[in-house]
Amino acid sequence: MHNFIKGLPKAELHLHIEGTLEPELMFTLAKKNEVELPFASVEDVRAAYEFDDLQSFLDIYYQGAAVLITESDFAELMSEYLERAIADGVRHAEIFFDPQTHSERGVDIGTVIGGFRKAQAEFADSISTSLILCFLRHLPPHAAVDTFEAARPYLDDIMGLGLDSSEVGNPPERFVEAYALGRDAGLRLVAHAGEEAGPDYVWAALDVLGAERIDHGVRAEDDPELVERLVREQIPLTMCPLSNQELQVVPDLRDHNLKRLLDRGVKVTINSDDPAYFGGYVAENYAMAATALGLTRTEVGRIARNSIEASFVDDERKAELLTELDQYLASHEVH
Ligand code: HPA
Ligand code: ZN
Repeated sequence: MHNFIKGLPKAELHLHIEGTLEPELMFTLAKKNEVELPFASVEDVRAAYEFDDLQSFLDIYYQGAAVLITESDFAELMSEYLERAIADGVRHAEIFFDPQTHSERGVDIGTVIGGFRKAQAEFADSISTSLILCFLRHLPPHAAVDTFEAARPYLDDIMGLGLDSSEVGNPPERFVEAYALGRDAGLRLVAHAGEEAGPDYVWAALDVLGAERIDHGVRAEDDPELVERLVREQIPLTMCPLSNQELQVVPDLRDHNLKRLLDRGVKVTINSDDPAYFGGYVAENYAMAATALGLTRTEVGRIARNSIEASFVDDERKAELLTELDQYLASHEVH
């Protein structure tokens, strides 16, 4: 199954680039940029990756991101991710970034995007990519609006808007103004919802923000009417099994609702979220879910198809990716 999964053409739609910062690169950049880390060694960092919940992860994740300063740092971060994604069969990636994590440290959004664009161009023959700007929901709504305005000169390089960070107590409604600006500018809209907070956050992400995909959406299952809507409107969920396991959203993967939702007809996808922190890139997420939930090759193929269909690529690229997937499945006698 593992080799089948690695070769399977797929799209990754829920990936925080800051969450791909491996401890080795963290240390290299900390040294170069003379940033102090609260860890003595790479082993120390890995030992600190024991999370009780989303917040305990975010505290460490924001500390790690402090080593990213120059354009070349952001380019290196992106290059390392793209190499790993390509090795995992990712043919298209829509990549989250958190400009506020960097602007708060005095790093300009142009530096961040400039670095990403270099790496994206370098790997463009092997993987198509786009950027999704995420607002940090623990910061005030006006900060999101300011961030959008700071990003305005770079909108040609940005596919969409997202919403991440501490979910409970920071409902989607707070960000209606920033999302309206994005919609008016022609951006695609997604939002994290139903990771730790309940189905009401998913409803609000859809109805108040106009989100076209829901990132996580695990808790949507608590509301049968919501599940019906996800099926009827084929609203994709970008699920992240290893993240859910590590952040105790679903402590035992065998209890994950990904397969139940797939069986119900929800457009479920599998993604890696913050792979440097949760112990696996996207192929590992597919493999762990397949083992824990007993997914067949046909089901795994369907999840890969969902990922391509749920992506925001243009019709021509989408058709190309679907053809590649069909050929792969046919050559492996998967129907
Ligand atoms: N949830 C919320 N915020 C995040 C996440 C997540 O899974 N990863 C990085 N920021
Ligand atoms: Zn996420």
